[in-house]
Amino acid sequence: MAVIPVALGGRSYEVRIGRGLLERAGEEAARFLRKRRVPVVADAAAWNAHGERLTAGLAAAERELALFQTTPGESAKSWGELARLTDWLLAEGVERGDHVLAFGGGVVGDLTGFACAILKRGCGFVQLPTTLLAQVDSSVGGKTAINTAAGKNLVGVFHQPSLVLADLDTLATLSPRDLRAGYAEVLKYGVLGDRGFFDWLGANDKAVLGLAPAALENAVATSVAAKARIVADDERETTGARALLNLGHTFGHALEAETGFSDRLLHGESVALGMVLAARYSARRGPMDDGEAERVSAAVDAAGLPAEIAALGLDCDGAALVDRMRHDKKMDAGSLPFVLLRGIGEAFLARDVDLADVAAFLDEELRAH
Ligand SMILES: NC(=O)c1ccc[n+]([C@@H]2O[C@H](COP(=O)([O-])OP(=O)(O)OC[C@H]3O[C@@H](n4cnc5c(N)ncnc54)[C@H](O)[C@@H]3O)[C@@H](O)[C@H]2O)c1
Ligand SMILES: [Zn+2]
Repeated sequence: MAVIPVALGGRSYEVRIGRGLLERAGEEAARFLRKRRVPVVADAAAWNAHGERLTAGLAAAERELALFQTTPGESAKSWGELARLTDWLLAEGVERGDHVLAFGGGVVGDLTGFACAILKRGCGFVQLPTTLLAQVDSSVGGKTAINTAAGKNLVGVFHQPSLVLADLDTLATLSPRDLRAGYAEVLKYGVLGDRGFFDWLGANDKAVLGLAPAALENAVATSVAAKARIVADDERETTGARALLNLGHTFGHALEAETGFSDRLLHGESVALGMVLAARYSARRGPMDDGEAERVSAAVDAAGLPAEIAALGLDCDGAALVDRMRHDKKMDAGSLPFVLLRGIGEAFLARDVDLADVAAFLDEELRAH
């Protein structure tokens, strides 16, 4: 098992990564479970595949589980579901000193974290992430949110979990497509700040995607350690350090919006494409060289992720995509910061990007390859 500390003073916590953690969940989380009955908010697919393991893990520590199953899909991050969940938590008698378990992917983690942040002005929660994306990204760092008619993740707060238990065995039942989408965020940590990790992934991508235990644990632990470092530096994204985690997300967000946040393009897939675009745009601006940018696209392609926007068959031009970016919540007083690269492993925040030039670049990409 790997244990990664997230150092945030009084809000510090650990991310424990390994196999068989659900069977030990009651013991691992013992100091947060004051009462016999433990409220669990679960994704239906995670529950069907691994609920028995979690139930047994709690029973072993003389805990019984009270279950709330979320509506499947991204639509669970809504006002309606938030109301339904907070009503249930109140009916369960959850108090401020209690902890709720969030058992599922990023959707369940984001919804549960937000509900816990506002329940009785804030109760605790423990993340039990069951997707690769949630294990390497969304369960760590304390961003919680729901979506509104105006866009994704527009209503939410920072609320850190008290513990994260990432059981690698849960990933065995994930669809290959969801697994690859999570892998995009793994690759992101290499591209943004760790060339050695990027190279290691180049040699081990098949092992990680094939869930080979040692490779998988190293990939998840290295990703979480990178995120933990950045979050500890800049918990609330005020200094710019945390913004580097948005590599690929500004381009990606435009593509997600253009495809209607649908199954046409999963979040991780849009991040993969967005990273390729950020790398190529960095090469166009300099000083990143073209060969480095093509190494990023080759790594994305080798993982079975989309690397060419021309292949999406979008019916839009670069200006329309840039218009989508203008509605990004990263917009800051009229300017849009972009995470660009000096080279692989060297991301920086550029605040002087000319959006007309980005549109021209995207026009070329939409036609190219
Ligand atoms: N808070 C953050 O910092 C942060 C960061 C990145 C993404 N997010 C959010 O995370 C969400 C995406 O997360 P996600 O990719 O985990 O999506 P998800 O939670 O929708 O899970 C993806 C799919 O996998 C299924 N599933 C979950 N665990 C499973 C398992 N073990 N076996 C089989 N199927 C399983 C789910 O039912 C779902 O169909 C988005 O809402 C995004 O905004 C948040
Ligand atoms: Zn992401």
